[in-house]
Amino acid sequence: MCGIIGYVGHEECAPIILEGLRRLEYRGYDSAGIAVHDGQALRVRRAAGKLSVLGDLLAREPLRGTVGIGHTRWATHGKPVEHNAHPHVSGGIAVVHNGIIENHVELKRRLQAEGRVFSSDTDTEIVAHLVDLATQRGLSLFEAVRATLAELRGAYAIAVLAGNDASKIVLAKNASPLVVGKGDGVMIAASDVPALLQHTRDVIFLEDGELAEITRDGARIERLDGTPVNRPPQRVHWSMMQAERGGYKHFMLKEIHEQPRALEDTLRGRVLLEESDLEASELGVTPEAARTLKRVVFLACGTSYHAALHGRYLVESVARVPAVAELASEFRYRDPVVGEGDLVVAVSQSGETADTLAAAKEAKERGAQILAVVNVQGSAIARMAHGALYTHAGPEIGVASTKCFTAQLAALTMLALYLGRRRGALTAERAGALLTELVAVPHKMRDALADAKHVEDIARAIMHARDALFLGRGLSSAVALEGALKLKEISYVHAEGYAGGEMKHGPLALVDRNMPVVCLLPDDSTLEKMLSNVQEVRARDGNVIAVVNTEEVAQNLATHTIKVPRTAEEFTPLVTIVPLQLLSYYVADHRGTDVDQPRNLAKTVTVE
Ligand code: M6R
Repeated sequence: MCGIIGYVGHEECAPIILEGLRRLEYRGYDSAGIAVHDGQALRVRRAAGKLSVLGDLLAREPLRGTVGIGHTRWATHGKPVEHNAHPHVSGGIAVVHNGIIENHVELKRRLQAEGRVFSSDTDTEIVAHLVDLATQRGLSLFEAVRATLAELRGAYAIAVLAGNDASKIVLAKNASPLVVGKGDGVMIAASDVPALLQHTRDVIFLEDGELAEITRDGARIERLDGTPVNRPPQRVHWSMMQAERGGYKHFMLKEIHEQPRALEDTLRGRVLLEESDLEASELGVTPEAARTLKRVVFLACGTSYHAALHGRYLVESVARVPAVAELASEFRYRDPVVGEGDLVVAVSQSGETADTLAAAKEAKERGAQILAVVNVQGSAIARMAHGALYTHAGPEIGVASTKCFTAQLAALTMLALYLGRRRGALTAERAGALLTELVAVPHKMRDALADAKHVEDIARAIMHARDALFLGRGLSSAVALEGALKLKEISYVHAEGYAGGEMKHGPLALVDRNMPVVCLLPDDSTLEKMLSNVQEVRARDGNVIAVVNTEEVAQNLATHTIKVPRTAEEFTPLVTIVPLQLLSYYVADHRGTDVDQPRNLAKTVTVE
């Protein structure tokens, strides 16, 4: 996730673009850059680090001009260093891009064979080369961008500026957001509304498959096939703060709703449907190593540990490799048996959690192969690992992890499927069926999110509870743990997650009519056994909230039922966690707690 902006107007644009990028910084903040046409040629400034570093550079080396583009980056391809910062320039073309170009490897090879020299490790730079080549063939900038888009596969919102034309910027969008603002003698486009609000409230949201040319006088929008688009601007009434949260009351709620997109971005370019396989060059685990490794050890803390439990389960059941999941904070202190033949998977949103970093270092020193599953490019855990499988969830601002959790589930699922294929435990046919279902999961998440109002009503009904239980079996037991963690950390309601079968060994003593018991009852291999556990709860008057695929399942058992779409058993947690996150959010919101920054907690825990 990155933020892009483009400005065509009458004022000096560098400060305007910089301020717009500041409004987009929530989308990424590891490097930034800006290109301005000074009337003669393109001038570019780029800097690694926070936006303030670019601001300092511009103060020392100002840019003058009234047309420009800018970018704030959340690295996906290539480290967050200056040469990977956008804009990327080729010949007379500068490009900023948000998204992932899936077929960038093959395009880059082709362009290199044609003699093109690349100066970054990004997927974006190929766009600059392709547009440059097309303009050299005599196409206008608009047509050159159109011709380029025909070659791209993946997600993009791009803004393109040409050195030979200071009057326009060309934009295009597919699966990444882009909005065009229309002011008085000024047009400004950006990834999100907050970047425009100081200039205009009249905006046009571009749709997938559209490209636009903006000049001072207006916008010309067409579909890729040349069909003109005449969409009048709409007026937005959000305050600046509302706009930064996409109109949501809290970042956590926004991030919950971003999950289908985060999942799509994490799967993009890695799921190879035609080959019933996964692209795994990032893993640092060669096919030979995948075949011969003896054990997989997952290390993580908090929510990431719950994702690790999911990884452990799938690596065993799908790839048939012995696997364990360990709390990183405990791992080092028991002189663990770990070393050669072990693949140690360090799971972390931030990539900076001190316990996870220290545990992974310990395992590395003892000879294990380390794979980082992290969200932040170039973070400490990614740097110390032999390979990194990045989740592409974009920056997560709310302290409670939501979209990074589901992106981790997806990444670990892909790892399990990859190992299963290499080890022969998973046939191509079964892998094909699973991958086809996996790419459908974001839509099922969207359906689950559409039920938010119903979940809010349930939250209102249970918001005064002092305690709550979350129960699940099999893969759903990790979801139960995560549901309980979400509730306690943001609403301060005491909550416990349990494997359903454990209830009769103690926790059942807690159940009475005041106890909400959230039961995960998807149609999977554990359903019958889970239903017996729910009967035990009902017999003690427990207030059952059932998460089901089929409503009949919970008849006569549940006070409240939440229906979510069915998916393959292996992917069920990706869908069932959604109502649990919403439930926690609404309980906390109705109780009036500080949802995004709950008391006593920090987003990144860099102390042991
Ligand atoms: O950055 P990490 O994933 O390594 O962080 C681990 C935990 O601190 C984190 O998941 C924490 O439990 C979250 N606040 C849970 O929502």
